[in-house]
Amino acid sequence: MMAFTMFLLYTFSQTLMYMPSATFAQALSSNNTDKLALLALKEKLTNGIPDSLPSWNDSLPLCKWQGVTCSSSNHMRVSILQLENQNWGGTLGASIGNLTFLKTLNLSNINLHGGIPREVGGLKRLQLLDLSHNNLQGEIPIELANCSNLQVISLIYNNLTGNVPSWFGSMIQLTQLLLGANNLVGTIPPSFGNLSLLVELSLGRNHLEGSIPDALEYAAGGHVSPQGDIYSYGILVLEMLTGKRPTDSMFGEGLNLHNYCKMAIPERITEIVDSCLLIPSTEEQKSVTQHVMENNIIECVVSLARIGVACSQEFPAQRMGIKDVITEFHAMKQMLLNTWYRPGSAAVEN
Ligand SMILES: *[C@@H]1O[C@H](CO)[C@@H](O)[C@H](O)[C@H]1NC(C)=O
Ligand SMILES: *[C@@H]1O[C@H](CO)[C@@H](O)[C@H](O)[C@H]1NC(C)=O
Ligand SMILES: *[C@@H]1O[C@H](CO)[C@@H](O)[C@H](O)[C@H]1NC(C)=O
Ligand SMILES: *[C@@H]1O[C@H](CO)[C@@H](O)[C@H](O)[C@H]1NC(C)=O
Ligand SMILES: *[C@@H]1O[C@H](CO)[C@@H](O)[C@H](O)[C@H]1NC(C)=O
Ligand SMILES: *[C@@H]1O[C@H](CO)[C@@H](O)[C@H](O)[C@H]1NC(C)=O
Ligand SMILES: *[C@@H]1O[C@H](CO)[C@@H](O)[C@H](O)[C@H]1NC(C)=O
Repeated sequence: MMAFTMFLLYTFSQTLMYMPSATFAQALSSNNTDKLALLALKEKLTNGIPDSLPSWNDSLPLCKWQGVTCSSSNHMRVSILQLENQNWGGTLGASIGNLTFLKTLNLSNINLHGGIPREVGGLKRLQLLDLSHNNLQGEIPIELANCSNLQVISLIYNNLTGNVPSWFGSMIQLTQLLLGANNLVGTIPPSFGNLSLLVELSLGRNHLEGSIPDALEYAAGGHVSPQGDIYSYGILVLEMLTGKRPTDSMFGEGLNLHNYCKMAIPERITEIVDSCLLIPSTEEQKSVTQHVMENNIIECVVSLARIGVACSQEFPAQRMGIKDVITEFHAMKQMLLNTWYRPGSAAVEN
């Protein structure tokens, strides 16, 4: 019993790791930060030209400013900044790095020059970065590698220089990496072979030499990242439950960890569960309370297996969402607590 409790607690903590990382405290910190950052940004973006971005003024709430979208799930912090088709001739200011809740930054075709500031490295939640069709110069700052949630990077049609950075190979969430039509030199780094989710790579119209690394030819993609996460989570749950790895010698020839668990739900569940999790008591030892408890635990194991199976479905669209996973966990926890602390029953230890 104790083993199962420990296991459940561990699984809970693993589940929490998959939840959005915005802590309450962070989200509560004044959103005046966003406002100051945007006003500083405006000055540079618009090259100080009066009357540009007129809606970015004090009488209008920041979330209604042109091109600004806030996220209600993150206490109205700025999550999208998207401007297009401007001719200001401005630059991208360092204050961009203070918009820490940004998920999408699209400043395509607004006549930017100057460099990409190092401070972009502070945008840890950024998923899409489009600075294409500008006149940006200098090297692509290595700090960009800190934005490990980036899925789409488009820098095409600029005047960026230096080697094609090999550190792009560590940004494993990338599905599109568009660097064409710049002044980049060198060869395509072998590290790009790590980008297994990449479906689009553009490097044309630069000054590159050499060939595409072999590994990239297998980078056919097909996975979508959030569903990819939930898949790994599902497999993790099944691994912990069964004590078996997906690479176990018993798998192959149509049988995999997912099918193996799926077939055992619900009747044969005890046959597949790791033996160190469920230590059945002998018939003589069994009190009524223990009997009820064991049944509840088995029910929980079945629920857990169902979650693991639902999260590791072959097709991403069929997979369970993290919100439903959390709901299931709460139901399980409630059931176990009710068993343990049922009025009138002795506290059970093992
Ligand atoms: C602020 O922007 C709104 C929307 O563009 C505009 O109607 C209003 O006149 C502006 N206020 C000031 C003080 O500039
Ligand atoms: C700050 O966040 C609150 C909600 O938490 C929102 O009502 C308010 O409009 C935000 N302030 C600005 C300047 O956007
Ligand atoms: C960014 O925010 C920090 C504090 O939160 C502030 O000290 C700094 O001036 C801001 N930087 C810019 C460029 O807005
Ligand atoms: C950025 O915005 C432009 C203009 O609205 C749009 O055409 C482009 O598709 C956007 N970029 C991405 C990567 O979605
Ligand atoms: C980015 O990561 C580097 C280490 O690779 C670190 O030294 C730097 O402070 C980080 N910068 C930002 C803006 O997060
Ligand atoms: C690109 O940048 C180089 C300097 O790095 C400059 O000489 C050249 O004129 C720029 N090209 C354009 C089209 O601005
Ligand atoms: C990526 O690939 C390179 C060389 O191909 C390798 O050395 C590196 O460890 C791989 N992993 C990451 C995260 O970059």
